[in-house]
Amino acid sequence: MIGKLNHVAIVVPDLAAAAMLYKTTLGGQVTEPVDLPDQGVTTVFVELPNTKIELLHPLGEGSPVQKFLDNNPSGGMHHVCYEVEDIHAAIAHLESEGARVLGDGKPSIGAHGLPVVFLHPKDFCGTLVELEEVKAA
Ligand code: CO
Repeated sequence: MIGKLNHVAIVVPDLAAAAMLYKTTLGGQVTEPVDLPDQGVTTVFVELPNTKIELLHPLGEGSPVQKFLDNNPSGGMHHVCYEVEDIHAAIAHLESEGARVLGDGKPSIGAHGLPVVFLHPKDFCGTLVELEEVKAA
């Protein structure tokens, strides 16, 4: 069911410093920051040849990553995102396997304008998992 690794997300306390670290120290290809008010985050993507790194910073009140940053002041790995071809079929399969989809269990629109859901970390080895629907080209 799961396909490519779409991205690994890292929450960072200083987005400009993290973007510079990935650009200068690691020599990566880094995008401009994008605010996603609906998701309560600002993102910078690092484009790698085979996947992406998503640098995340809280945006506004009640950001879902603020608590993570409070618990991990120097930042840390937040989630991994796998691609699926049909997110509704994936949700139905996961629920039949007893896995929990976070929120109302319905897809929302994620950082790439595509439908996403998040899965309960306790059901996946302590790792928050994002699924993103990416149609086969
Ligand atoms: Co993500």
